[in-house]
Amino acid sequence: MSRADERVGLLDLQPTPARILADVVQGLSASPRQLPSKYFYDARGSALFERITRQPEYYLTATELALLDARMDDIAAAVGAGAHVVEYGSGSGRKTERLLEGLDDAVAYTPVEISLSALQHSVARLGALFPAIEMLPVCADFTGAVALPAPSRPPSRTLLFFPGSTLGNFTAPQSVALLRGMRAALGADGRALIGLDLDKDPRRLEAAYNDAAGVTAEFTLNLLARLNREIGSDFDLDGYAHRAVYARERMRIETSLVSLRAQTVRVGGRAFAFAPGEAMAVEISQKYTRDSAAGLAAEAGLALRAWWTDPRGDFALALLAPV
Ligand code: AVI
Repeated sequence: MSRADERVGLLDLQPTPARILADVVQGLSASPRQLPSKYFYDARGSALFERITRQPEYYLTATELALLDARMDDIAAAVGAGAHVVEYGSGSGRKTERLLEGLDDAVAYTPVEISLSALQHSVARLGALFPAIEMLPVCADFTGAVALPAPSRPPSRTLLFFPGSTLGNFTAPQSVALLRGMRAALGADGRALIGLDLDKDPRRLEAAYNDAAGVTAEFTLNLLARLNREIGSDFDLDGYAHRAVYARERMRIETSLVSLRAQTVRVGGRAFAFAPGEAMAVEISQKYTRDSAAGLAAEAGLALRAWWTDPRGDFALALLAPV
């Protein structure tokens, strides 16, 4: 059940075990089998993701941070003074810090995040760094409709920040639905600044999702550990291997957990038999071109106003506005 937090008057909307169990049984009953990647992010999963972002092969985070720095003046000019910055997810805040610092007189910051502890951590840190910016956290699932709070100082416009190529973890229909939700939250004159990882040499992409230190494999397998702990499944963590391959035709990394032998897993009173080599799809990480991004945005009623990339063309920041 959701828990009320007395101090900030927010609800913790983390999924209940019953919800997780229903999603897992549904995913294991599908063919091919799948598990939702949103369940990667328990406390250990979030810490492992943070470690992934520091692996040398995972160029995404460092490239996006450098790009934000390099283009901050252009971004600030395009957004204008007095924006209400809304972020979907609250992450570790490194990128947010750059943005709040670089924009001209941002009036308020609203992280929209499902985990209450992540939300509290983010506003405590950023609130201390930016005392002049009003912190207005919202505990919500950003894939649903989000009602944004009104800052006490009227903002010039809303700037929705969605960095990290997180959009890529959603299927195309889910991405369009998410972008439509953003468009609704933005109002007529808002802007969205979205970080997108770009299509490139498959060897570099596959290296980014198969780092030599094995952190990504640990991250993927942690999903099974979480499920065992929270819904009482009995996945054998030594019985599955992480696999991430770039499907060129779909322009996306497809990550799966592959059964290393014939085995049966019990979940919620049901038994699921795995054949040796059988794969469970656990995550997609879509990659983009300028055209594919503009096409997706257009389907959601958004137009590309600016497209900034790093010198190597690895990563883009797309500025979108309602059509
Ligand atoms: C959060 N998301 C954008 C990451 C990605 O690149 O798809 C999650 C991740 N999975 C494996 N490595 C990183």
